[in-house]
Amino acid sequence: MGKWFPKLYDTLMGPFERRGFGAIRRQLIQKASGEVLEIGSGTGLNFPFYINAKKVTAIEPEPLMRQLSIQRAQQAQVHIELMSANAEKLPFPDNHFDTIVCTLVLCTIPDPIKALEEISRVCKPDGQLFIFEHVKIDHPFLGPLQDRLTPVWRRLCDGCHLNRPTLDLVKQSNFKVINEKRYYKDIFIVAEAIKAGL
Ligand SMILES: C[S@@+](CC[C@H](N)C(=O)[O-])C[C@H]1O[C@@H](n2cnc3c(N)ncnc32)[C@H](O)[C@@H]1O
Repeated sequence: MGKWFPKLYDTLMGPFERRGFGAIRRQLIQKASGEVLEIGSGTGLNFPFYINAKKVTAIEPEPLMRQLSIQRAQQAQVHIELMSANAEKLPFPDNHFDTIVCTLVLCTIPDPIKALEEISRVCKPDGQLFIFEHVKIDHPFLGPLQDRLTPVWRRLCDGCHLNRPTLDLVKQSNFKVINEKRYYKDIFIVAEAIKAGL
């Protein structure tokens, strides 16, 4: 990862956070309860919104991102433990977490199918997965545009795939989506899913 992306992340996200993402995050994250695992927590933009979690374990493989999130972790209302780890190989036992949170991260993880397998493994049998992601849309002009922009976008935004069908991947994984909402011409989705069983 280039150093400029973590350094500029909060500045680039600022207008989006103020105009809607912040409210979306608040609504979703305040519902996270019990032992929570956040995947690829970046600069910690979700941290202020945890109010019902018993404890949050936040994994973030990029050292500068992790460093930039320390202040938000310290100011959070619940205990947040920051760790370096990759979603494709989670250093936790089976059936450990009550809630797993992925925001704007399944688009970037190199192997999202493996990551969802790992997320399912560490999620308790009655646990839940919360996601807020952008996805490939079914639109005659915007869908192909997402495909065309993705190679350049990936280089600029540290591996982010504009055209990843993340909600479909979640539906094909070991989670059952029980609630989904779409935003901004259906490009962004918020979904709540429960572990589907063995
Ligand atoms: C676009 S940022 C999103 C940060 C944060 N989740 C948010 O909502 O603002 C994507 C994050 O995914 C992290 N990431 C990339 N590959 C990952 C992996 N294999 N496992 C976990 N996180 C990863 C990056 O380091 C980066 O912090």
